[in-house]
Amino acid sequence: MPFLFISIRLHIFYTYLSVLQISIGIHIFILSFLLFNMTRPAKCKVLVCLVLTCILFQSFYLISKDEDVYTFVYPSYFGSTIQKKDTLKKSVVQLGRFLFYDKRLSGNNTVSCASCHQQKFAFTDPKALSEGVNGATTRNSISLTNLMWHGMYFWDGRSKTLEEQALIPIQNKIEMDQDLDSLLVELNRIPLYKKLFAKAYVDKKITKEHIATAIAQFEKTIVSSGSRFDQFLSGDKEVLTEEEKKGYVLFTTIPDARTGKRGAGCSLCHSSNLLHEQNIRNNGLDSTFKDQGVGDISKNHDDIGKFKVPSLRNIAVTAPYMHDGRFQTLEAVLNHYSHGIKMSPSVSSFLPYMSNMEEGKSLQLDPTEIKSIIAFLNSLTDKSLLNKKEYSNPFD
Ligand code: HEC
Ligand code: HEC
Repeated sequence: MPFLFISIRLHIFYTYLSVLQISIGIHIFILSFLLFNMTRPAKCKVLVCLVLTCILFQSFYLISKDEDVYTFVYPSYFGSTIQKKDTLKKSVVQLGRFLFYDKRLSGNNTVSCASCHQQKFAFTDPKALSEGVNGATTRNSISLTNLMWHGMYFWDGRSKTLEEQALIPIQNKIEMDQDLDSLLVELNRIPLYKKLFAKAYVDKKITKEHIATAIAQFEKTIVSSGSRFDQFLSGDKEVLTEEEKKGYVLFTTIPDARTGKRGAGCSLCHSSNLLHEQNIRNNGLDSTFKDQGVGDISKNHDDIGKFKVPSLRNIAVTAPYMHDGRFQTLEAVLNHYSHGIKMSPSVSSFLPYMSNMEEGKSLQLDPTEIKSIIAFLNSLTDKSLLNKKEYSNPFD
């Protein structure tokens, strides 16, 4: 038995070093010495034990080295993810990528998720209101990057997970107008999907849950961290121009008119290095609301006119802006915050009272300040994201 114990310890050690062959070789070598002086039954027992331990540890080794695990890489300054990342599998992500780009997911086979979430626009589309199979939606498409760090989805935050979100646009009458049961029949007829689902899931079945998980897993892998601002955060302080740095300072500074400290206070809401917030707010776009935002979902009067605070990463390529795409340019957005805040009961308390002028009701930035904030926003574009192969259309 002590031999077996030593053998197990040795085996774990070598397996850990990934030199399984050497480990087995050494065992056989030691064993050949021991076997010399043994009686026949003892020899048999030792051999059986050896074969069993080998099988046992070989299987542990194979399980622990699951080739299908997706390695999720992101910068440490993003902080911990909110959604679970330990379940990501390469085969599921691959399936999700096909589904995301497949127009056959819509009722009349003309629209895919990627029609409204196009890679070259950081997974948004250039229309104010996105076009689905039955005309225009009521809202502007949202950029799909770094979604693992979000705890709510849609402008009104009505979905809490991406798995929950994924089946909504497929069934939505305007967006993709697809009946899920018919979709299962359709996908079952396509050999590519039979193969991909079988590879991705143990039960090998094409189900609604599996469709949702696969699309969600693909979306989770879309990490955007290749902008010049990321290089700056990684320590290269010279990568931003003086104007961009000035814009960043204004972006993160709360103005104080009495002391003359100038700022724009954007990071009160567009916070952290992801430039978003796990929160809903009213940023003063309207006094009366055509779209009630979160209020429509929660039925709480205080939530009328509140929307999810979006991330500003890649903002230069995701025009037009806001939940209804009302602003075509970043100049228009900055003019809104500078002197266009509208009062309403739910307007964020940060806004109407944050000003560079005493008694001001908006920021009152000057044109050079607006220019430098826009310069900073332009440094948030991750060009590598816009054509990265692993997020692109797999049918091309
Ligand atoms: C017709 C255009 C269109 C199609 C097709 C479409 N989307 Fe969207 N997507 C939108 C719009 C518009 C919003 C914002 C809607 C809202 O807030 O009510 C949105 C929001 C989202 C969000 C929320 C992002 C966030 O940060 O809150 C996710 C995730 C998403 N879509 C994924 C998908 C997936 C997956 C598919 C395919 C199954 C898909 N979309 C199909 C237009 C579309
Ligand atoms: C009180 C919180 C708050 C502050 C402060 C704030 N924002 Fe926003 N921002 C929001 C919310 C909420 C939205 C989404 C509103 C909507 O669409 O109805 C938004 C939307 C935006 C958008 C459009 C994003 C998109 O994807 O369409 C841009 C650009 C933007 N903000 C830039 C800024 C800048 C620049 C500043 C500073 C001058 C700033 N914001 C300050 C809350 C805030």
